[in-house]
Amino acid sequence: MGVNSYLILKEEIEDFKITKDMFPKDFMNFRDISWVAQVSPFIKEFSKPGDLIFEPFAGMGTTIIGAAIQGRRAVGIELEKERFVNLTKRIDYYKERYKYIPELINGDSLTFEYPNNIDLVVTNFPYYNGNIEDSEDGNFYNIKSYNMYLEFIEKVIKRCAESLKKDGYMVAFSENIRNLNGNMISQAYDTCNLLKKYMNLKEERIILYEKEEFKEDDITLTNRSHEYVFICKKKEDERDYSEYKNALVKVGEKVKYLVIGSYGLFNICKSVLDNPPYDCDILVDNNINSIKNIVNILKDQGYDLYSWQDNIDQKFDYNKLKGRYYIRAIKKAKEEEYIIDITYECERLDFSKCYENKVDKDNITVASIEDISTLMKGRGTEKDKSLLCRILKLK
Ligand SMILES: C[S@@+](CC[C@H](N)C(=O)[O-])C[C@H]1O[C@@H](n2cnc3c(N)ncnc32)[C@H](O)[C@@H]1O
Repeated sequence: MGVNSYLILKEEIEDFKITKDMFPKDFMNFRDISWVAQVSPFIKEFSKPGDLIFEPFAGMGTTIIGAAIQGRRAVGIELEKERFVNLTKRIDYYKERYKYIPELINGDSLTFEYPNNIDLVVTNFPYYNGNIEDSEDGNFYNIKSYNMYLEFIEKVIKRCAESLKKDGYMVAFSENIRNLNGNMISQAYDTCNLLKKYMNLKEERIILYEKEEFKEDDITLTNRSHEYVFICKKKEDERDYSEYKNALVKVGEKVKYLVIGSYGLFNICKSVLDNPPYDCDILVDNNINSIKNIVNILKDQGYDLYSWQDNIDQKFDYNKLKGRYYIRAIKKAKEEEYIIDITYECERLDFSKCYENKVDKDNITVASIEDISTLMKGRGTEKDKSLLCRILKLK
């Protein structure tokens, strides 16, 4: 595909065309089937021979063939029994060209176990239609509500993201579609947002099909002359939180503290977070001796401490802390920067009361979800608001 962000396709490679003689019957009349010419460049670019390629919506096996003829191992899941028979036949047809025989599963992608350590997921999401009545129960083509469709797609995306190897990619083809009222449904953009939630979005490409005009009686109403390709990568490993943990254990030996903010949530209800936390926020009593103790302990742990622009050194005048709310501790370790923000003045919460509700987790002391939420409500940023919604759903 080179450096272009688009790929123009005229037709399927002759060898891989699906013919009526070979496959007389299909519930979608093969309208939803991609081309080997379409998926192959992505398989080549984002995987190498021997890699494991997974397709949760195998269809007629276009991804599987594209992977197998390029020396990749491939696993695909397809729900429709009748289509699965055709799929098996089609995959078998090219078997002389494969180094590894693909594994095909007749099952539901929402529930069937995915392989571990996938190098690359390549998929073409079933479109939202809500009116393909010939399909089997559980087929995404049958989902009547768009919200439910997205909910199910999200589950598949999440499972794919979890099953990817470190540095693994997911290449997803998706398009916006027209509904029966003639409006557009932003399926491509919505599925892209879901991909972004679980992986890092790396690239967007567009596939342009030079083909005959859209026919109004096409029941898929997809106007398929262009399609988006979203290329995502597994999220990088979380940072090494042992740095924070060790420091907090030391602090806890002498001073009462509560972990708040996203590192607090990370410890007690990780699933609500979109991204792993970067820094560590703690709340302490507004007591000069406690604060001095924390400063000394963190200095011993290799942190530099600051009150706004002032370095907290031997000469620092602790009277300056009044009205400054927090102290920042910074340490460079393992080629990363670690930041602990220590809040000692907090208008919204009383430290002693919060401490009564504390949660002890793996040797560190975390504020309760309610108290962390109260603090977030106070800040009221957009990010906090969406986090709060997720916390509420959790309850
Ligand atoms: C867009 S097609 C994929 C086409 C495939 N990439 C190809 O070109 O051969 C989507 C496929 O997903 C299948 N499907 C829909 N819901 C499914 C589910 N819950 N589990 C597994 N497959 C499902 C459909 O039957 C259809 O074959």
